[in-house]
Amino acid sequence: MHIESVALTHFRNYRSEEIGFSPGLNLLSGPNGHGKTNLLEALHYTCLAHSQRTRKDKELIEWNEASFVLRIRGRIGDQEHAQSVEYTETGAKRVKVDGRESKRLSDLIGHFSVVSFSPEDLDLIRSGPQIRRRFLDILLCQFSLDYLDTLRRYNQALKQRNSLLKQMGDFDAEVLAAYDSALIEAGSRITLMRRRALDELGPLASAGYHDISDGGEALTLGLSGCVSEAGEEEAMREDFRRKLASLRGAEREAGLTLAGPHREDLGFFLAGKAVRDFGSQGQKRSVALSVKLASAKLLEAKNERPPILLLDDVFAELDEQRRRRIAGMIRGKGQVFIANPGAADLPFEADKVISLQRGRAI
Ligand SMILES: Nc1ncnc2c1ncn2[C@@H]1O[C@H](COP(=O)(O)OP(=O)(O)OP(=O)(O)O)[C@@H](O)[C@H]1O
Ligand SMILES: [Mg+2]
Repeated sequence: MHIESVALTHFRNYRSEEIGFSPGLNLLSGPNGHGKTNLLEALHYTCLAHSQRTRKDKELIEWNEASFVLRIRGRIGDQEHAQSVEYTETGAKRVKVDGRESKRLSDLIGHFSVVSFSPEDLDLIRSGPQIRRRFLDILLCQFSLDYLDTLRRYNQALKQRNSLLKQMGDFDAEVLAAYDSALIEAGSRITLMRRRALDELGPLASAGYHDISDGGEALTLGLSGCVSEAGEEEAMREDFRRKLASLRGAEREAGLTLAGPHREDLGFFLAGKAVRDFGSQGQKRSVALSVKLASAKLLEAKNERPPILLLDDVFAELDEQRRRRIAGMIRGKGQVFIANPGAADLPFEADKVISLQRGRAI
């Protein structure tokens, strides 16, 4: 699986540019502020339907323009594959996958699987639960279309249920019950699928952390805030229903759904202690890196091909041992994009060097 080319129109500092890639290791080089991260962002956005650094899609449009277009072409197995997205400042999106129009931005997900590494990965540990849920969701969506579909249904049910809860005056308990069912059905499956994925991701991350930290503490991952500890869908649904019934008054008061996968959190623990609260800076960095490396391994196992790796400025920040881990992972594996100002401090040679200057490949 690899991306052969990307075409960018009015995206960030790219006016109109088409850039070809090697199926191996691509080095994006160039001075600060000339478009290395922007190019990685374009690939990330077209493969995963969101930017790795902002939630405001409007910011991605070149200044003084009204829309951007991104198009990538490549191969998945022995199939040609193309996908594109046009985003207009009004919020309108036009998505095409293999020439077919599609309404949803999320239809871009699940074709080219991608894992990104950047200094901001530390946010996975430091920031709020939303970032961790998003990490989990994107990971699962990249190997399970069933998860993507269930998540869509859950989010829709949640939105409708919340807007009903907000209309306190003409509250209709029967209508609410209809939304309860959709929420419970999709929500229970989401929690179970997340838990199963963590059962596989946990040991991979733990092994990675063991290597990086030279046999340090045991790393474990856990899902918290679940409506139930039940392992079966039926029992989970029962517990979910009971929980909603017990929260009915509080939910009417809050005008919000107070239980479900949208309240879950992913926890990282070293020797049983929360890394977020007790971890040192170096431990947090190692945990974030181990989890990212593990997610690439999980995707490779699930999809039977390595994901595309996007590495932004990571080598400058890493010590020797962590560099070696990443280098070991990259060598001879799938397609890799590395943004680095120069080639000097890289522990390997690139198959293609793309020199970027003011939003142009020269
Ligand atoms: N919407 C936009 N329209 C036009 N230019 C933009 C837009 N958003 C950001 N830029 C420009 O893009 C540049 C940043 O590009 P990018 O982050 O890709 O740099 P970089 O090559 O990764 O640099 P560094 O080595 O410092 O990480 C900035 O100079 C900024 O002015
Ligand atoms: Mg950058």
